[in-house]
Amino acid sequence: MKNILITGGSSGIGAATAKALQQRGHQVLIMGRNQANLEKVSEGKMHVAVGDVRNIEDCNAAIEKARASMGGIDVLINNAGLGFFDPLTQAKLEQWHEMVDTNIKGILNMIHGCLHEIIERKGHIINLGSVASHHVFPNSGIYCATKHAVLAISESLKVEHGKNIRITTICPGAVNTEFIHVTQNESLLKEYIPNFENGLSADHIAAQMVHVIEAPTGVNISEIIIRPGV
Ligand SMILES: NC(=O)c1ccc[n+]([C@@H]2O[C@H](COP(=O)([O-])OP(=O)(O)OC[C@H]3O[C@@H](n4cnc5c(N)ncnc54)[C@H](OP(=O)(O)O)[C@@H]3O)[C@@H](O)[C@H]2O)c1
Repeated sequence: MKNILITGGSSGIGAATAKALQQRGHQVLIMGRNQANLEKVSEGKMHVAVGDVRNIEDCNAAIEKARASMGGIDVLINNAGLGFFDPLTQAKLEQWHEMVDTNIKGILNMIHGCLHEIIERKGHIINLGSVASHHVFPNSGIYCATKHAVLAISESLKVEHGKNIRITTICPGAVNTEFIHVTQNESLLKEYIPNFENGLSADHIAAQMVHVIEAPTGVNISEIIIRPGV
């Protein structure tokens, strides 16, 4: 049984992962900005920390709560993230900043807060990348840039600590969650929503999380690229 902290545990991939792991007997703490949504996912069976990954104090408070309530952190799942889709010329600068602050700096806030502990416990860090960690698509170039950075952060952990801890990057294609609905560009929404609705389910990604966390001793699955298929 592992003690697992999941950011963005109130929705989509994070919520499905939290439920799957809790059902398999792991202790789970979920973090997100909306207490009611966290409580709904938890159903009283998980620990909950309200906080924004862009805020260093919130990240440290969630880490402290995980230590106090579970006795330490074995697995950190950096899942909180978002993508605003727009052509570059129509994009809002504050949305670029929000993606960088959440998808990159949010992960760094969490890693910096508990890396020593994860090393001591021979633990595991799982970062949510994307197929956008490997490819750059039109209308989501800055989101792709943040997910390229996520993969590079995972690689940096691997080159310095790949023998002490497990590092995994999960890189999904389209997954049917609330993800696409932060985008405000109506014509892109019309074009993209069917791709996401016909995409993978959050449960498909949760199953991959269980697979990498419960891999046998001595095995580190560095990366999983998973796309919708036949
Ligand atoms: N869906 C896809 O097609 C897809 C594909 C590849 C990768 N991904 C990645 O998978 C991850 C999860 O996305 P999802 O599809 O499950 O989307 P989602 O359903 O929108 O869930 C996003 C989660 O992140 C949390 N979050 C967002 N900003 C946050 C912040 N500043 N601080 C704390 N929590 C924050 C949200 O909770 P609150 O808003 O309540 O804080 C929510 O729990 C993201 O990193 C995304 O980039 C998604």
